[in-house]
Amino acid sequence: MYPTRRSVLGGGLALLGAPRLAMSQDEASLARIARLSGLFYGAAVTSSQLMAGDFTTALKHEAEYIVPEWEMKWGALERERDRRQYGTAQKFVDFANANRMSVRGHTLVWHRNIPAWAITALKNKEYGLMQRHVRSTVSNFGSIQDWDVVNEAIEPTHGRSDNLRTSPFLDALGPGYIGEAFRAARFAAPGARLVYNDYGFEYELETHRTRRRALIRLLERLKATSVPVDAVGLQAHLVTRDIKFDPVAYTSFLGKIADLGLKIIITELDIQDTNLPADIPERDGILADHIARYLDAALSEPAVIGVMTWGLSDRYTWLNSDPSAKRPDGLPSRPLPLDVDMKRKPMWDAIANAMRNAPERSA
Ligand code: G3I
Repeated sequence: MYPTRRSVLGGGLALLGAPRLAMSQDEASLARIARLSGLFYGAAVTSSQLMAGDFTTALKHEAEYIVPEWEMKWGALERERDRRQYGTAQKFVDFANANRMSVRGHTLVWHRNIPAWAITALKNKEYGLMQRHVRSTVSNFGSIQDWDVVNEAIEPTHGRSDNLRTSPFLDALGPGYIGEAFRAARFAAPGARLVYNDYGFEYELETHRTRRRALIRLLERLKATSVPVDAVGLQAHLVTRDIKFDPVAYTSFLGKIADLGLKIIITELDIQDTNLPADIPERDGILADHIARYLDAALSEPAVIGVMTWGLSDRYTWLNSDPSAKRPDGLPSRPLPLDVDMKRKPMWDAIANAMRNAPERSA
């Protein structure tokens, strides 16, 4: 079983600044291995998972950051107008504080999980509503210094010349809503890292190439208008279907983001196995190889500062409840570094090795 994070990190903290010293298998954790390269590692969790004993023991050992899967979204914080409820989301901050971890705030402005009353109010041109939500949320969680401010604002299939997704925010406020969201967050938390988060950039698909171009153009516009964006979150929900990943094309894309002076976080790493054989050793080996190839490329870009997996254990993954990700044979997916019994899988080794071998980041 896992030693407690305190027993390991307490003794090993001195190592963090040390050269990449070996550590025992028990001492090793994704968070400590990440730190030895100047990276951070964390995982998405839900509030109910924070009460599962064996899971939280593994989480405290493996992760330095946690991010709420849904409890910090507008729809969860303010189901009823002016009755903002922070109690559930506060559990993440309390858990992190008690275990010397940090919380990533996710996500302030997203076209999903908007309370129904807010959609109506935005249609009625209550323009300040979004900024009020951003300021209230960021101010309430003052200890959170890393926010996904705007999530998934790109959607080229919506046919706009700026490739933005139509949404209640865009309809009410125009394309400037993105900048307004970041400015509201900066006002509420001047020292926080403000992140633009999105998906669909990894593969040699025309849709992904279009999305890569759209993201760079969006970022160029934001930087040209002094929008206070500090980093880009690349969700990296990977697949094993027969589509090409080109490390050269991907690292060139990452380099364009870095050239804008932005840091990069891999924010929601996991991998679908819907098309893979049922055999677990074979499936786990293929998944680990895909993750290794992706992370070796991603972490070769020094602007990449952290890796978050969208979950830690196969016991809890959104992919088992998403119809598009269900395996034809009905078997549960295996998208994460730990299995359902909190045992490390080949994917754990793939992530650990990619972070261990990454070029060392300056602090
Ligand atoms: O709302 C109920 C809540 O009342 C109830 O107490 C709770 C009990 O578990 O369930 C809640 O239901 C749903 C929740 O998942 C259960 O975990 C929420 O309605 C539902 O919105 C939520 O789905 C989340 C989804 O985003 C939408 O918010 C998923 O957990 C989460 O994995 C998924 O994450 C997104 C990222 O935010 C953005 N990138 C894509 C990623 C996957 O879709």
